Amino acid sequence: MSMRKSHLLAATAILLTAPVALVVAAATAADTDQPAARGLKAPADFASVADMSARSAALFTEAGKVIQHARCVNCHPAGDVPRQGDVRRRHEPHVVRGDGGMGAPGLRCTTCHGEQNFDAGRVPGHPRWHLAPAEVAWEGKSLGNICREVKDPARNGGMDLPKLVRHMAEDDLVGWAWTPGAGREPAPGTQKAFGALIQAWADSGAACPEP
Ligand code: HEC
Ligand code: HEC
Repeated sequence: MSMRKSHLLAATAILLTAPVALVVAAATAADTDQPAARGLKAPADFASVADMSARSAALFTEAGKVIQHARCVNCHPAGDVPRQGDVRRRHEPHVVRGDGGMGAPGLRCTTCHGEQNFDAGRVPGHPRWHLAPAEVAWEGKSLGNICREVKDPARNGGMDLPKLVRHMAEDDLVGWAWTPGAGREPAPGTQKAFGALIQAWADSGAACPEP
């Protein structure tokens, strides 16, 4: 009897420790550069969608979690004024687009925005910090309209699909969205995971979601 009881205790101990080990393993995986880490699904998660056009649109919808995030939209505003912060308020002090998105002659973006983030002053930075062209204004647009816009060479700066994929996956100004500095939420996932979704979207026919 006591034999059986101690076996039972040992078995209970194993049952109790096993879930703990699983939780630890899951936490370790989340810290690495797993595509699914930090809120973005991987292309493989869409493999079960048999209809290619529906799969492609679903991949873009997932990538939309990044594209419609404040870190991208603040620099792709409607009109001439950038947006700030996670709540997308109008830029203060007041600045305007100016020539080539660089700001007005007397108040260039680079007057305040340095080559890198200046966390003590909460000022984000990058060597090419300027406003996205009005053709790729995303603020207030549906994801389907953004999709049709970004794949149109007449509006995306003359890029074909492979160039567009590379821009999304590798451009370091786009990449700033994942290292935005103090007081700002990074875009979901990683730039690598985002790039993989955009690549899979292009490979499956670059269909756009509705609306
Ligand atoms: C007079 C200084 C100044 C100028 C000039 C300036 N900025 Fe800013 N900008 C700031 C400061 C300070 C912040 C940070 C505000 C905060 O979030 O606390 C900021 C934040 C931003 C953000 C928000 C990033 C985010 O996602 O939160 C964007 C986008 C931005 N600026 C774009 C521009 C662009 C584009 C120009 C030129 C057209 C420009 N800024 C010119 C001072 C300036
Ligand atoms: C600091 C401002 C800024 C931020 C932040 C930003 N962009 Fe842009 N974006 C630009 C500018 C400027 C251009 C115009 C091309 C260039 O100079 O890189 C652009 C252009 C683009 C284009 C069109 C290609 C082209 O060359 O016209 C795409 C696609 C794009 N950005 C994606 C993104 C995504 C995705 C994010 C967020 C993960 C993002 N951008 C964040 C400024 C920004």
